[in-house]
Amino acid sequence: MKRLLLAIETSCDETSAAVIAEDLTVLSNVVSSQIDLHERFGGVVPEVASRAHLTQLLPVVDVALRDAGVTLSQLAAVAVVTHPGLVGSLLVGLTAAKTLALTLGLPLVAVNHIEGHIYACRLHAGRDVFPAIGLVVSGGHTNLYDCPSALGFELLGSTIDDAAGEAFDKVAAMLGLGYPGGPVVQKAAEYGNPQAYKFPRSFLKEERLEFSFSGLKTSVLYEIAGKPPRDYDPKEIPRQRVSDLAASFQAAVVDVLVAKCRQALRAKGRRTLCVGGGVAANAVLRTALGAMAEREQIDLVIAPLALCTDNAAMSAVAWEMLATGQTAALDVDVTAGLVRKR
Ligand code: KG4
Ligand code: ZN
Repeated sequence: MKRLLLAIETSCDETSAAVIAEDLTVLSNVVSSQIDLHERFGGVVPEVASRAHLTQLLPVVDVALRDAGVTLSQLAAVAVVTHPGLVGSLLVGLTAAKTLALTLGLPLVAVNHIEGHIYACRLHAGRDVFPAIGLVVSGGHTNLYDCPSALGFELLGSTIDDAAGEAFDKVAAMLGLGYPGGPVVQKAAEYGNPQAYKFPRSFLKEERLEFSFSGLKTSVLYEIAGKPPRDYDPKEIPRQRVSDLAASFQAAVVDVLVAKCRQALRAKGRRTLCVGGGVAANAVLRTALGAMAEREQIDLVIAPLALCTDNAAMSAVAWEMLATGQTAALDVDVTAGLVRKR
């Protein structure tokens, strides 16, 4: 009988639970999204998110166990995302995980959400993908890592202001396209000209492995509403102009992400690139990364959509942690930032 672990993920606005076997087979991966709850606010409201996790988590765990065809007594460990994320949301998952670990007498593993996004590529590939460069592009993060092995990732650089997904969300709001921004901007961009507007590509020609999307977002606003921006009704922007703005914005984000991945690969001499996070669902980004990987003869691993966005299965990295004795004490706490407090 394979050993099984239950993974719990509540770091942002998805309540998720998964059952994963030691050989990394995913027996179930249940995700309950809160998008409908946050849509009318144009972004995730932390208090609303934690309250929704409270009502959703136990039913989601139940379904995950049922889908996997197992009971709590068959589990060998409990993994939970403890950082980074929204503190109130993380606390819901951690409290549930601690309770299960304590009552069942199981080891508890504290997983880093961002490292999980990269590990999703390992899960998808079904083979070792390390050493690699890892890019995590989500609503909250745009981080480049050097990943010599499955554990011990080194942060090479991140965004100095907005995350790439956040920029998608804000530009979507400016264009009146709705929330979350990524999919709707991508859709509008299908009918647009990516060269219609010349938007800035921060640090493109510089060696630093950092990102900045705030200036790009402001440039889109100035293009729509003038400088200084006047009040405007997004519904009055002509459809073609919306599409051209969306396509030109998306092209700027994609150019920067691809260039920085190439730079990191060269700087660290890595031959594999793993990309995760919600923005990795973007079709134009996927195509551009694929073309770069071919030119540079790089092995590109991007998880399928269901594993790119937040889900508990990516916490499968907990098996690697267990194998090296990295369990957490029952007084482990959540951390909003990237690095877990000891
Ligand atoms: O990783 P994720 O599910 O949640 C966290 O932020 O951790 O990522 C969500 C982000 C949102 O900002 C959303 O707009 C973006 O991923 N996103 C996309 C696409 N689908 C989702 N961005 C660009 N293109 C997409 N197709
Ligand atoms: Zn995420």
